[in-house]
Amino acid sequence: MNVGIIGSGAVAKSLGEGFLKHGHGVMLGTRDTSKLSDWAYDNKGANVGSFSDAATFGDAVVLAVKGTAALEALEGAGPEALAGKTIIDTTNPIAAEPPVNGVLKYFTDINKSLMEELQAAYPSARFVKCFCSVGNTKMVNPEYSDGKPTMFICGNDEDAKKTVTRILDQFGWETLDCGKAEAARAIEPLAMLWCIPGFLYNEWSHAFKVLHA
Ligand SMILES: NC(=O)c1ccc[n+]([C@@H]2O[C@H](COP(=O)([O-])OP(=O)(O)OC[C@H]3O[C@@H](n4cnc5c(N)ncnc54)[C@H](OP(=O)(O)O)[C@@H]3O)[C@@H](O)[C@H]2O)c1
Repeated sequence: MNVGIIGSGAVAKSLGEGFLKHGHGVMLGTRDTSKLSDWAYDNKGANVGSFSDAATFGDAVVLAVKGTAALEALEGAGPEALAGKTIIDTTNPIAAEPPVNGVLKYFTDINKSLMEELQAAYPSARFVKCFCSVGNTKMVNPEYSDGKPTMFICGNDEDAKKTVTRILDQFGWETLDCGKAEAARAIEPLAMLWCIPGFLYNEWSHAFKVLHA
């Protein structure tokens, strides 16, 4: 599969390396390709282009930009390049204000998620929320003594979620399908919870796991 990754930050780079490692074609998209020249040098076989190049390249697309810029980045990618494609949405709706006692501020509210907004703006794209509640260093084949961690996903399209579940199998995760796009209202705030030990105790390497009786 070819994967177009909209973004040039830590998440885009980590997932790009992961997809390459698992034999997929990869293109990262950015407004400024010069910032990815070192990364491209270190990751032979990876491609770098604009948001639109990356979205066009991908059979599936990863959205890995600042939450506040998600709509703008998708606009840069272009609706034709996104139509019908699985969009793996890693974004969190983190507001510009600083955290309060380790708790991030979001620009969404509890009854409306960012992914629902993106899905409504691009109805023919097939958004799946994924990877938003773990740190980038643990997104691909994380190793924990307690076994596989759990990735919470959601989205309206069953086939798109199957594609993402196959990727998560490759990347060493147990998948918990939380249902339709509305479930992003619960999944996105997991990143607030995930970041608290980071801000309070400088602990950034944990992941969530659901225990089954
Ligand atoms: N960092 C983590 O460990 C982590 C973990 C889970 C989820 N997330 C979420 O994943 C997403 C990516 O996080 P990140 O840490 O990799 O990177 P980030 O610093 O949150 O975002 C960097 C990306 O945002 C784009 N961007 C910024 N302002 C923009 C604008 N005005 N218009 C268009 N694009 C703009 C940049 O584009 P250019 O390339 O053009 O500069 C860059 O690609 C975020 O939503 C974050 O909340 C992060």
